[in-house]
Amino acid sequence: VKRVGMLTGGGDAPGLNGVIRAVTMRCISEYGYEVVGLRRGWKALTAPEEDTLMPLGVEDVRYILQEGGTVLGSSRTNPYKNEGDAEKVVEQLREFGIDALVAIGGDDTLGVARRLHDDFGVQVIGCPKTIDNDLSATDTTFGYDTAVAIATDAIDRLRTTAKSHERILVVEIMGRHAGWITYGAGLASSANVTLIPEVEPDLDEVTAIFKKRAENGERWGLVAVSEGVTFSEDFVTQTAEKDEFGHVRLGGVAEGLAAELKERTGIDTRHVVLGHLQRGGTPTANDRILSTRYGYRAAEAVANGEWGKMVALRGDEIVTVSLAEATDETKTVPKETYEMLRSFFG
Ligand code: F6P
Repeated sequence: VKRVGMLTGGGDAPGLNGVIRAVTMRCISEYGYEVVGLRRGWKALTAPEEDTLMPLGVEDVRYILQEGGTVLGSSRTNPYKNEGDAEKVVEQLREFGIDALVAIGGDDTLGVARRLHDDFGVQVIGCPKTIDNDLSATDTTFGYDTAVAIATDAIDRLRTTAKSHERILVVEIMGRHAGWITYGAGLASSANVTLIPEVEPDLDEVTAIFKKRAENGERWGLVAVSEGVTFSEDFVTQTAEKDEFGHVRLGGVAEGLAAELKERTGIDTRHVVLGHLQRGGTPTANDRILSTRYGYRAAEAVANGEWGKMVALRGDEIVTVSLAEATDETKTVPKETYEMLRSFFG
């Protein structure tokens, strides 16, 4: 290996720059490789532009650890979704003289890495990234800790105003398929109710909780709800679309739920969508540490020629696992874990 390429794909996550920094520093200082960043994810290789290649030296990355986002930029381009693009990627890597690639991303990006390795023998190492924490092959991913901290802080702030105005505030948190961020923030902020996509919500139960609180003089409350939560059809008054499973998917889940709770409880209810705030800003110390450990080990995986593997956290150790295993299934919140949280509702 002479020239290592690196790209970040999918939604950004605080900690990406930590990986970029660690891969670059170790590849150069310990192994003597040249490192180049590829801007805008896989798009760098399917539709390169003039500024696509970003030479990376130790001094370019030394102080990016505390910066959110990714200095390489990102995109959701997937070469396997457009006929002929996978071949283009392989050809472009050759033209750029890149003989090893570090791909940092979630299941979509890593799925592409896996196929490029399997189909064309591309020498690739994966690094897991997602604020959603839903990759099964690793205990956790960087970005998750930051997202939970932001959502927790938001709910803590909303509590004071909810109390002052005697309102219920419904807070929508990211997570389409897995409710990890909502679970974490709901628990850490002691939200009165937390709803995740893995468990169909019982709105009678939620209503009863807020009515009981009101009887006890607390005409306010907080609901943490994942954006991916769906409701069964008898969930009521709102105009809503049904998804392919016949579940009711509200335009914006928090908005619909707030209107519903207002109707059912008679308490003034508002909603807040946290959206991309959860991915913004500086990474927590934990995410800086984890991303650095991933990047450091990813550089070693390049040196070892562990192609088709991904770095992963298992217990206290950073190990490598096959990309096949890494992209196999989504890690969702187990029912028992949610039951524990549910015991604190009210
Ligand atoms: O996968 C990360 C994530 O932030 C999800 O939690 C969210 O559903 C999605 O990305 C949002 O994607 P976009 O930034 O493309 O709107």
